[in-house]
Amino acid sequence: MQKMTDITSGKSAEEIQNINTFAHKKSIVEYAGMAELFPVEEHILDNYFPSGPAQVLDLGCGGGRTTVHLAERGYQVTAGDIVPEMVEEARKRISGVAFKVLDATCLDLPSEFFDVVWFSFNGLDYIYPFHNRLSALHEIKRVLKPGGIFVYSSHNILGRCTRINRPLISCLLHYHLAFFYHSLRKPLLQNYWRECHYGDNWLNTYCGIPQRQVGTLKNVGFDLLSVESSYGKSIWEITWKDFWPHYVARKPLVERRM
Ligand SMILES: C[S@@+](CC[C@H](N)C(=O)[O-])C[C@H]1O[C@@H](n2cnc3c(N)ncnc32)[C@H](O)[C@@H]1O
Repeated sequence: MQKMTDITSGKSAEEIQNINTFAHKKSIVEYAGMAELFPVEEHILDNYFPSGPAQVLDLGCGGGRTTVHLAERGYQVTAGDIVPEMVEEARKRISGVAFKVLDATCLDLPSEFFDVVWFSFNGLDYIYPFHNRLSALHEIKRVLKPGGIFVYSSHNILGRCTRINRPLISCLLHYHLAFFYHSLRKPLLQNYWRECHYGDNWLNTYCGIPQRQVGTLKNVGFDLLSVESSYGKSIWEITWKDFWPHYVARKPLVERRM
């Protein structure tokens, strides 16, 4: 198994914190125990994934929750995660999938190979700082075929603050004091916040509003196909209600001049 020091070399303290949190025993057990797709993921699979055989990269596969469903649908699946223990757990669950330890910021994969890249359940948000997140987006675009689809979900600070049934002030007290402290002198609506995960283990989590996400996708050179959510249809409704919307984007058939 790959050593943690190889994986974390050159990474920021915040990202190493995130990787260690996901490598925590309780985290491995939790993700290996997950099996169901979220309804919005089913919707995206049914409506945006190719219907025939296709090469799909399940990036940040965790314990294999999504990998199992992709393989069951007959796709040729490559699945990878930055945490080797996650990859091992996922490998135990399913055969016929090419599993690899993968870092989204420098993918050890060929260019223009995949029809779809899926970075499910907010995995992209744990890459720190923002310029490394951008490197991951460029890498994802590189490994996609022209016309290939990129699907991911990502946290949204406004959706979190106004979450239904949770008064704003109690939400702020419970979740966001550390975030606001961390955010001083940084762009508030496109920033990282901190949440507690397993006792003392923090996750430094990107939390940009959908409008910022859409702008970033465009700047990287993707065409946005849809912002998907169970909380609404319009981007503003989603912005105020959904804690982590889903994004569906396409690599253009002909590369745009940036
Ligand atoms: C919230 S978990 C989701 C796991 C899985 N996709 C699921 O839906 O159950 C996020 C995953 O992203 C992985 N991850 C974080 N940074 C990564 C990176 N740079 N490259 C690849 N995977 C990464 C974590 O190790 C973790 O397994």
